[in-house]
Amino acid sequence: MRVGVVGLGYVGLPLAVAFAEEGLEVVGLDADPRKVDALAEGESYIEDVPSESLAALDGKLTATGRYPDLSSCDAVVICVPTPLTNSREPDLSYMVDAATSLAAVLQKDQLVVLESTTYPGTTRERLRPILEESGLAAGRDFHLAFSPERIDPGRTDFTIRTTPKVVGGLTESCTKRAVELYSRICDEIVEVSSPDAAELTKLLENIFRSVNIALVNELAMLCERLGINVWEVVDAASSKPFGFMRFDPGPGMGGHCLPVDPFYLSYKAREHDFYTEFIELAGKINQNQPHWCVRRIERALNDAGKATNGAKVLLLGVSYKAGVGDTRESPALKIIRLLRELGADVSYHDPHVAELQDLELSSAPLDESVGSADLVCIVTAHPTIDYQRVVDDSALVIDFRGVTRGIEASNLVRL
Ligand SMILES: NC(=O)c1ccc[n+]([C@@H]2O[C@H](COP(=O)([O-])OP(=O)(O)OC[C@H]3O[C@@H](n4cnc5c(N)ncnc54)[C@H](O)[C@@H]3O)[C@@H](O)[C@H]2O)c1
Repeated sequence: MRVGVVGLGYVGLPLAVAFAEEGLEVVGLDADPRKVDALAEGESYIEDVPSESLAALDGKLTATGRYPDLSSCDAVVICVPTPLTNSREPDLSYMVDAATSLAAVLQKDQLVVLESTTYPGTTRERLRPILEESGLAAGRDFHLAFSPERIDPGRTDFTIRTTPKVVGGLTESCTKRAVELYSRICDEIVEVSSPDAAELTKLLENIFRSVNIALVNELAMLCERLGINVWEVVDAASSKPFGFMRFDPGPGMGGHCLPVDPFYLSYKAREHDFYTEFIELAGKINQNQPHWCVRRIERALNDAGKATNGAKVLLLGVSYKAGVGDTRESPALKIIRLLRELGADVSYHDPHVAELQDLELSSAPLDESVGSADLVCIVTAHPTIDYQRVVDDSALVIDFRGVTRGIEASNLVRL
């Protein structure tokens, strides 16, 4: 079997590698020639895919920028970005571009699967008509399905193989073809009745996280007023063995998924005169979180007799989550901008992020910068950092991730 993967990013590259590791011939296509060139040189640009694993593929994965190279594939999986526009509406332009190019080379009997996160109806209403411009009919001449990606960058306890894969085809035979494909790389396939159900399944998973994170973030704000330690409460509630799932408060949500995906559903709901109030409320609370963190920083400096204007503030961790280097939508970026507006002299240390080009900053050496900062602010708690030492060596520390639980020090403030 020959598989094409369109879009070789955080989702597409690990998927292409998973197929190739199972011995399938894989054609990886990306619109970015730098990625195609890097892969041709055997160099990975995704942290979860070491270059050594590319070398071990023995030529099973070839990278290209040409859509005609997909015509020999039995299946083509689309993993392009689905961001929001500036007005926070779905931006399907990457999918439309990829589908338009694919339609020009689509072959009879090919299976096309969309993996990009999107609102229910996209595969049926948006992707299908573009692919049918080929003159082939979906469900009759070619197969079409949606199967959401569940990758969690940096996670090692669940892999593509051990994470169940949801699949919904346009017809029963579309589903069957997609199940056959994914059975090569996943132990468990969960069939649903339509692409629409599969699309909404992914959104439910991410909205569930967004709403629960907002709930604990709101609780953290209330705890500050009440003088109760929110971490103590979350830890204690987590001892309940049933009916409770732990979520931690923090400086806000980041990444390509949680701050974006829920709004795909609220957009679709509006088309049906329906308002998804949980989504909007969770988005409002989570987006406000970096602003609240900056107020906490101002207060901490004030309590130490310092003004934010002119203060040296070091952020520890700027990626959107621990253990990865992805800074997309990271709350740290907003915190840096807000602190700069207040006149703070901001620097950062992050073992996974060498530089933040847009902010003209590069990662400062840990030891020197901790010692010279007026305030060290733990925004993303990378596991390789010794937080006891950070507290010992700093004038003042504010911890937005709760990693200093268990440390008591007069120079330490926790969210
Ligand atoms: N990153 C995650 O953790 C994650 C998890 C689950 C689902 N998703 C979803 O998967 C999709 C892809 O996300 P990602 O994080 O891999 O994005 P990404 O930006 O890392 O990768 C997308 C790739 O698609 C390429 N591309 C864009 N337009 C193209 C075109 N017309 N033809 C060929 N290639 C094109 C880009 O150059 C890029 O390399 C999104 O819908 C996202 O919501 C992401």
